[in-house]
Amino acid sequence: MGKRRVQNNEEEKVKVTRESFGEALKIFSFVRPYRWYFIIGLVFLALSTGTNFLFIDYIRELLATVTDKVPEWQDKLRSVTIQIVVVLILQAAFSFLRIILFAQVTQRTLADIRNAIYHSLLSIGIPFFEERRVGELTSRLTADVSQLESTIQVSIAEFLRQILTLVGGIIILFYVSVKLSLIMLSTFPVAIIIAMGVGRYIRKVSKKAQDELAESNVIVEETLHSIRNVKSFVNEKFEFQKFGEKMREVIKNGLNAAYARGGFVVVLILAVFGGMALVMVFGAGMIGNEELPVDQFIYFLMITAFIGGSIAGLGSLYAEIQRAIGASERIRGILKEEGEYDFMNAADTGERFAGEIVFSNVEFAYPTRLDVPVLKGISLKIPQGNKIALAGQSGAGKSTIAQLLLRFYQIQGGEILIDGKSIFDYDLHHLRSNIGIVPQEVILFGGTIKENIAYGRPGATEEEIIDAARKANALEFIQNFPEGLETKVGDRGIKLSGGQRQRIAIARAILKDPVILILDEATSSLDAESEHLVQEALNKLMHGRTTLIIAHRLSTIRHVDQINVMEAGKIVESGTHNELADQNGGAYFNLLRLQEA
Ligand SMILES: Nc1ncnc2c1ncn2[C@@H]1O[C@H](COP(=O)(O)OP(=O)(O)OP(=O)(O)O)[C@@H](O)[C@H]1O
Ligand SMILES: [Mg+2]
Repeated sequence: MGKRRVQNNEEEKVKVTRESFGEALKIFSFVRPYRWYFIIGLVFLALSTGTNFLFIDYIRELLATVTDKVPEWQDKLRSVTIQIVVVLILQAAFSFLRIILFAQVTQRTLADIRNAIYHSLLSIGIPFFEERRVGELTSRLTADVSQLESTIQVSIAEFLRQILTLVGGIIILFYVSVKLSLIMLSTFPVAIIIAMGVGRYIRKVSKKAQDELAESNVIVEETLHSIRNVKSFVNEKFEFQKFGEKMREVIKNGLNAAYARGGFVVVLILAVFGGMALVMVFGAGMIGNEELPVDQFIYFLMITAFIGGSIAGLGSLYAEIQRAIGASERIRGILKEEGEYDFMNAADTGERFAGEIVFSNVEFAYPTRLDVPVLKGISLKIPQGNKIALAGQSGAGKSTIAQLLLRFYQIQGGEILIDGKSIFDYDLHHLRSNIGIVPQEVILFGGTIKENIAYGRPGATEEEIIDAARKANALEFIQNFPEGLETKVGDRGIKLSGGQRQRIAIARAILKDPVILILDEATSSLDAESEHLVQEALNKLMHGRTTLIIAHRLSTIRHVDQINVMEAGKIVESGTHNELADQNGGAYFNLLRLQEA
């Protein structure tokens, strides 16, 4: 679904509307701090374009010198040669400086844009990420930014240079011979009309080819991410065929674009050479009538070739700039998203909640499925320091309650209060700093065990980390690794067992030392002994904290202060284990019976 939508977006972006152009210009505000580099670069660009014309003029002068056979023609030849050398050196120097200056602008601007995108991605709230694929977002950072890179660094400069060449060249042509210029220009409109029509088609097809390619990348990325899944389901062939289909589409679109381009070139060549031929015939006649000296005629032809080159270049540059506009629009889309809070300036006040939690009549549906109510009037009170459990069927909404407490989503009705104040009125940084979670599925970062534990409180000392690991009953297995705390856990932690990962997550939470603790089925994937170790660690962790335990295994929640049984978004029963266990036919009673069987 995500894929489909991206494609539609990109198709819309083929047209350069005034709106999209305006949006794209906003990206150029990133250039502003470096505008002087850019402006000076443009000056050098104009100078080097000017020297091109000078160069051609010298060639004409050389020709004139030798054809007119002025008496001192050899001296003249020598002096023109020296001037040519000087112009060449200047030309090289101008070009070098221009490239360096534009590179300065580009590299700095792009780094700023990448930082801004990453900053946005980090500050945007969870719902945004549920509507998009990670691959799509990372391609904003890589593909779209690279598109801008070549545009800022090369295309804009080239575009301006070609325009300068075109305008300057035409002025010179008219200066040399108005009549010949008009003859030559008469072939232009044909070429331009064809170029515009075919150009649009080419762009459309190449865009399609690009999109197909991007989709094939998504396939590769997703299969590699879950390569174990692919292999265990022996679905290599299935995945490979999916990829092959995309490849066929890529080839088809690529070829279509090539045919269009080929046809385009044929027509263009006919138009350009036709024009040239006309000019040649008329020019020869004018030379015969002594209306035009030979050197002027050759000068005219060289300038014409020069202009022809710049026109040919303009087409592809225009397409390139158009792609950049698409890219900057997509980037702007991310930059415009409102962030949750200003994480760069969020100061940790160190202030701690007391820890009383109240859910009162909370109504909630996920933003991606607003028509499906997930919580239907949840009311729940957890007094400070109490331990409350949520039990019930899969999909009943237990994990959702935890997510809401962390304020990942807006709620549609009711209130969630901590210490008597709505969670939506707290500073977000403050709120989340006070809540620790050991999630249902622990995903670690690819670094070392030490880094992963320290994630709970960056800046913790080695002693504190070891202490947390010990309390989490993790120290023993960590020390059994030859590299101890420095052991690399592999991509997302795959080199550790489920129970080991959970204990790392517990150590993290211990280090964070939150007032409120959420345990989401933290013992679900363990054997009896590890469960005992983890449970012991959890008991230590829970001590003195307001705790919300989400559990399937009822044995782990016997001693909590209150058990709430959920069914389809509602709490259907609450009480202590002893109260509920005796209610013959009650929801908890039934769950217990199922688990004992
Ligand atoms: N991010 C999401 N977007 C849309 N719907 C979601 C999302 N997460 C969960 N749901 C839906 O919300 C409902 C409650 O999910 P939740 O994860 O809270 O269940 P749970 O009680 O924790 O289940 P389990 O015991 O299996 O973990 C489910 O029907 C689920 O499909
Ligand atoms: Mg869950």
